[in-house]
Amino acid sequence: MKYFNTIIIGAGASGLFCAAQIGKRGKTVAVLDNGKKIGRKILMSGGGFCNFTNLDVTPQHYLSHNPHFVKSALARFSQWDFIAMAAEAGIAYHEKEDGQLFCDNGAEDIVAMLVRQCEQSGVRIVLRQRIESVERAESESETGEYAGFMIRANGQLWRCDNLVIASGGLSMPGLGASPFGYRIAEQFGMKVLPPRAGLVPFTYREIDKFLTALSGISLPVTITAQNGKRFNNRLLFTHRGISGPAVLQISNYWQPHESLTIDLLPSANIGELLRQAKTDSPKIRLKTLLNRVLPKKLVDVWSAQGLIEDETVANLTKVRSEKLTDLVHHWNFQPNGTEGYRTAEVTLGGVDTREISSKTMESLKVKGLYFIGEVLDVAGWLGGYNFQWAWSSAYACAQGI
Ligand code: FDA
Repeated sequence: MKYFNTIIIGAGASGLFCAAQIGKRGKTVAVLDNGKKIGRKILMSGGGFCNFTNLDVTPQHYLSHNPHFVKSALARFSQWDFIAMAAEAGIAYHEKEDGQLFCDNGAEDIVAMLVRQCEQSGVRIVLRQRIESVERAESESETGEYAGFMIRANGQLWRCDNLVIASGGLSMPGLGASPFGYRIAEQFGMKVLPPRAGLVPFTYREIDKFLTALSGISLPVTITAQNGKRFNNRLLFTHRGISGPAVLQISNYWQPHESLTIDLLPSANIGELLRQAKTDSPKIRLKTLLNRVLPKKLVDVWSAQGLIEDETVANLTKVRSEKLTDLVHHWNFQPNGTEGYRTAEVTLGGVDTREISSKTMESLKVKGLYFIGEVLDVAGWLGGYNFQWAWSSAYACAQGI
């Protein structure tokens, strides 16, 4: 049997960083992972350049049934701490937009930094591990109290005082995602809030399929969920539905069967444009006017659908003007569903944080059992917030062990 002070399940962002921090404090640590490779999501992230944090991180950038939960960890290891650490490691980075920080050279830089830190801290990383069971270990003392955990992996027994679950959420099963963390929480009598795909594209309903003609077109929009949450960013038409940053962001706030309101021209007021055109150039054709402010293909699709007439602006009745205003500024989009975990960047829901210490990430019910990263009911916005949660929760946990 192998003994370590702490065993971490999951060699992703949170697991690796936590391992290095615990090792740095002089404790023995092993990380077990089911994959062939460590940090697979880091390598895939940000188009291979890893959006590792954001200049503007606040608790408001996170969703959880327990909104105050993230505050302590984010304050104790902030974006500035990670940025300083990355800079010290010589990682070159740049701000892309909205405070999002990406590696200049590639996501491998982040993985290499974490590996170096783990090596320096004497962390043992063991890959291709199938975790068969996790049990509480009985103490050898006469009280018979539990002391730590026994883990069976690939037929071998491991024992530890502290067990950290860093196995992530369900997004991208192709990258090793599994419900392991939820099963462990349930096994130990803890609550798991129903998981669902977040930061995910929407798919069209059958009756919206004509929009596939717009596939590849991207435009700035304002998109609003039924709960009033709103994002200004780009929307991308795909051959299966809609995507792009605005859409991914709002997907975190969307519930099945709800609709979304999309303003396709947030920078102007179409009613105003029509009134102006009626005065200045009444003979201009409606399509010509719309082509000046919206993608031509979109105007063509509306025209083919009979949603707009081929007429001059002067000819446009009040009723048709109002309909056009609705179409442009209040497009009611009813998704068929989402693309699901196959393409989702994050999982909403997860281990209920009301049963976790916000200071140490330790279970309030099971001493020595910790949950960090995405396995928890914490999901961030698009823009580096999910990695920041991985770093912050991992750090808080390491200080608590
Ligand atoms: P993570 O998923 O990183 O690691 C979990 C580890 O546990 C994996 O190594 C997995 O193999 C292992 N594991 C799972 N089940 C196991 C089992 N049964 N036994 C053993 N091991 C098991 N965020 C962000 O802030 N900026 C970005 O640019 C991106 N980009 C991005 C792109 C893509 C394509 C995806 C899918 C996601 C992102 N994200 C992101 C989100 C970000 O990747 C994610 O939130 C963090 O990786 C979560 O870190 P964790 O350590 O919690 O899990």
